[in-house]
Amino acid sequence: MQEMLRIEDLWVSVGNVQILKGVNFSMNYGEVQVLFGPNGAGKTSLIMTLMGFPKYAIEQGRIYFKGQDITDKDVYERAKLGIGVSFQRPPTVRGVTLRKLIEIISNDKVSKEKILEFTEKLNLSGHLDRNLNEGFSGGEMKRSELLQLMVQRPDLVLIDEPESGVDIENIALVGESINRLLGKDRIKDPKRGAIIITHTGYILDYVNGDRGSIFLDGNIKCQGNPKDILSEIKRSGYRGCLVCQE
Ligand SMILES: Nc1ncnc2c1ncn2[C@@H]1O[C@H](COP(=O)(O)OP(=O)(O)OP(=O)(O)O)[C@@H](O)[C@H]1O
Ligand SMILES: [Mg+2]
Repeated sequence: MQEMLRIEDLWVSVGNVQILKGVNFSMNYGEVQVLFGPNGAGKTSLIMTLMGFPKYAIEQGRIYFKGQDITDKDVYERAKLGIGVSFQRPPTVRGVTLRKLIEIISNDKVSKEKILEFTEKLNLSGHLDRNLNEGFSGGEMKRSELLQLMVQRPDLVLIDEPESGVDIENIALVGESINRLLGKDRIKDPKRGAIIITHTGYILDYVNGDRGSIFLDGNIKCQGNPKDILSEIKRSGYRGCLVCQE
């Protein structure tokens, strides 16, 4: 399998705070990587850095995507190359409706019928003509983020806590949508990859994770089978889980 993403010795700060501390990470085309880690470990910062948000200053290290060095590329260039993100806390944008945004980012790649189908599937039909995220509930925001990714069709999706705030019935929908986004059958669309951040692991009941990592104190400390890692974290906590490394 060919490598899709490689991160080499990545050091990142926000303001004066050192957040990522020498992260090394790689994944192949078609892989689903799952990131676990306590609050404040730097998981979201890693995703925001991969997407290229300027607030996250890269002090050292390189990021390669599909064989290209993207370390110095802007957000829009990375999006064009095929990276997309579902935010942990997406911003409210007044003056732009969800419908308008969907029209812009679908770029005529997805038919109107398909967009309607995705929208209905994600229970968002009543939200299309509302300002983006204005007054959306937590779960509605998460579903709206996924809808945007489904019409954008990125090759690498960065999904930050897809199940947080989503009710039990809708988690199944979110899981199905992620699978669809990734081309679950993997025969038609074997190349899409994902990095999914989860605290609860509920999403792993629906989405098959290939590899899991524990992120702690600004770096990846352990990698393995995602479900095994999750059950060990539940039993021993994040740091306790690392005991096997010693
Ligand atoms: N603008 C900022 N100024 C100062 N510190 C920041 C800023 N942005 C992020 N941080 C800090 O960086 C650390 C990592 O934050 P990050 O959001 O990446 O954590 P996380 O692993 O995603 O946590 P969670 O599980 O709670 O979402 C935190 O301690 C956070 O307070
Ligand atoms: Mg986070």
